[in-house]
Amino acid sequence: MYNFDKLLDRKGTDCLKWDMAEKVYGHEVIPLWIADMDFEVLPELQEAMIKRASHPSFGYTAAAPAYRENIIAWNKKRNGLEIAKEDILPVPGVVTAIAFALNALTKEGDQVLINTPVYNPFASTIKGSKRELVTSSLKLVDGKHVMDFADMEEKMKNGVKMMILCNPHNPIGRVWTKEELNQLVELCAKYNVYLFSDEIHSDIVYGGHKHCSILTVSDKAKEISFCAMAPSKTFNIAGLKSSMFIIQNPEIREKVSALINAYHIGIDLFAYKATEVVYGCGEKWVDELNEYLYENAKFVTEYCETKLPKVKTYVPEGTYLMWLDFSAYGLSQEELMTKLKDEANVGMNSGATYGEEGVGFARLNIGCPRSMLEKAMNQIKEAFDKL
Ligand SMILES: Cc1ncc(COP(=O)(O)O)c(C=O)c1O
Repeated sequence: MYNFDKLLDRKGTDCLKWDMAEKVYGHEVIPLWIADMDFEVLPELQEAMIKRASHPSFGYTAAAPAYRENIIAWNKKRNGLEIAKEDILPVPGVVTAIAFALNALTKEGDQVLINTPVYNPFASTIKGSKRELVTSSLKLVDGKHVMDFADMEEKMKNGVKMMILCNPHNPIGRVWTKEELNQLVELCAKYNVYLFSDEIHSDIVYGGHKHCSILTVSDKAKEISFCAMAPSKTFNIAGLKSSMFIIQNPEIREKVSALINAYHIGIDLFAYKATEVVYGCGEKWVDELNEYLYENAKFVTEYCETKLPKVKTYVPEGTYLMWLDFSAYGLSQEELMTKLKDEANVGMNSGATYGEEGVGFARLNIGCPRSMLEKAMNQIKEAFDKL
């Protein structure tokens, strides 16, 4: 059994989440914001990093065969996704992958569709690449967020060239089903829209839900869509900058790969080694992690139901991010975030960051020991009980 209850002091490690929190929030807070976790990494990973670092040579690196073999075996076993070696294009980040895909497959001024609220670099990368941002709000049906296919079709009719999907979805925690994804693929195919599926959260799935990679949906999906994934969220190694495209359509792969080569972008030797090691021996760690995160999610949901009933939330299907609705307090977004940071002393992300649908909401990162989460929830309760 791995010990996810253990408190890990990350201060002084150039850690964005902890060492920058004071600058971002103005004073010390419990930092439950940016999406990485406060758990020790897989022990075999730390050992492998130390072993490699102890060899006094850091020259140009060729990936060991096990790098690709382990990515392939992991995806086959966990998600039934069959990948060939050549389908894998390493890139440092998934956001880097979004930028490459936009620039390789669309041109300036082209329309790119996203479902809001969603991870904010989707919008900023589209705008930063001088493409036109088109949004379609997720809608709530029977308490569950779903895609608004009628609205998306209207938008696709007007000339959308690419859609960027978050699968599973940050921040609302949906793990899209095969039926939903199939409907999306059919729609994209009808209007000649490339479908980019960001699957960075694909391993953090619990409560009986199962991740469905876009590439397992149908043959049509393999033709028009591709995905990016990474061990970074799963194994808490975002600082090592290892991500990858999986592209099964050779024409799309050729275009993306030509651009990556033109920029001479690769990943470093620690990124290769870490990826090889975690996918090679991290299964039990991830299974236990998911159990722990599921309990954290249930804890927060029950806490709100019983002690903070004006805060509405739910157990997500995946990700270690929770979407908390504070709108019943009638505060402006600025008042809400000020109260959270200055009175509750908890660093959360403003819901408005993810789109206008997020006004009244804040995103909570539950990737931490339960005692830390409990302390944060108690502090939130104390601050909001005064209202
Ligand atoms: C959906 C999604 N995509 C991408 C990223 C970041 O990816 P990277 O750090 O590999 O660029 C995040 C981080 O939170 C995310 O939630």
